[in-house]
Amino acid sequence: MALQAPTLADLDLEGKRVLVRVDFNVPFDDQRHITDDTRIRAALPTLAAIRERGGRPVCLCHLGRPKGQVKDELRVDPIGARLSELAGCEVVKLDESTGDAVRAAIEGAPEGAIVLLENVRFHTGETKGDDDLARQYAELGDVFVNDAFGASHRDHASVSGIARHLPSAAGLLLHKEVDAFGRVLNDPARPFVAILGGAKVSDKLQVIDNLLDRVDAVLVGGGMAYTFLAAQGHSIGGSLFEEDQLELCKAALAKAAERGVELALPEDHVIAERFAADAPAEVSAVDIRDAWLGLDIGPATRERFAARIRAARTVVWNGPMGVFEMPAFRAGTEAVGAALGEAEGYTVVGGGDSVAAIHLLELEEAVDHISTGGGASLELLEGKDLPGISALGTRS
Ligand code: 3PG
Repeated sequence: MALQAPTLADLDLEGKRVLVRVDFNVPFDDQRHITDDTRIRAALPTLAAIRERGGRPVCLCHLGRPKGQVKDELRVDPIGARLSELAGCEVVKLDESTGDAVRAAIEGAPEGAIVLLENVRFHTGETKGDDDLARQYAELGDVFVNDAFGASHRDHASVSGIARHLPSAAGLLLHKEVDAFGRVLNDPARPFVAILGGAKVSDKLQVIDNLLDRVDAVLVGGGMAYTFLAAQGHSIGGSLFEEDQLELCKAALAKAAERGVELALPEDHVIAERFAADAPAEVSAVDIRDAWLGLDIGPATRERFAARIRAARTVVWNGPMGVFEMPAFRAGTEAVGAALGEAEGYTVVGGGDSVAAIHLLELEEAVDHISTGGGASLELLEGKDLPGISALGTRS
């Protein structure tokens, strides 16, 4: 997978109103303060490039899931304020994202300003991919740039729809993300090791299926490991278990064996009697006693996984190894993060929790690519085409 779509260089931007779909879906605290502005920062190179080439950026974004309702707490004003600080220019934030008043405000925006439209998910048609809504957005611009990698798996009006109405291209962030995943999936230096974790095995089985055709080893931790262990006949106590995924886990184990790919499961665990931060924790062998819960990988597994990661030439990581938000069950995720930082090969991290672990461990510099996309990066690892990318360049 290389980026097949047109890039910014393919578009004439001079004097043009450039609609830019960005992923500014950032987390907030209770006081409506942005707690992590990584996604806003990640869009800055594209916005700067557009302005340098004489274009006038008009940003479309979503925040949360308001389901077609106007929700004041999901207005994007705080994002506009942060964008203005980071970009070092005026940001004109509008309270709507379609219509004549918006068009006039874009025309009247001062030279050098960035325009930010209101949360596109206030329209019911946005998440339905409504083409009439896409056309209304398109009337606000001359060309369209998708830089919202994190939303590119959504076939939504402002993500894939606008490209049906305007000349379009991928932004610099989208390009960088697709290149990173393309390098991992198409041309990995070997050994190539994938680390998969997180709570639900049902979310990751398609990823495992696709990766088994490409990797040398898959290291599985987190809640998703227990259905695999159950499929091997181990007792898992009261750990997370998805009975309806048992057969698919067995099929993945069989496919790994057939391909000669190591599908490594935890050989020990950190367990507790309750799912609570203050629950006394113990180390358990692979079989977990009745009613106890596996909440992290154990020390032997940490060591084995870390050794595999350090020796790898390509590593991709998605999902924590345990209940990372509770310090007693964090060591597995920390060990994997630290090993990734020490690995000499090319390293890519995707998914909110594993990215949070990288930040906590301050390993940002040690990792080659930290993805801004959770669901989008998973779909790339599943081998799927993303609608926000495949729509680009379909109308010129
Ligand atoms: C994300 O936060 O992963 C993206 O912005 C997509 O958001 P969504 O899952 O609400 O579509």
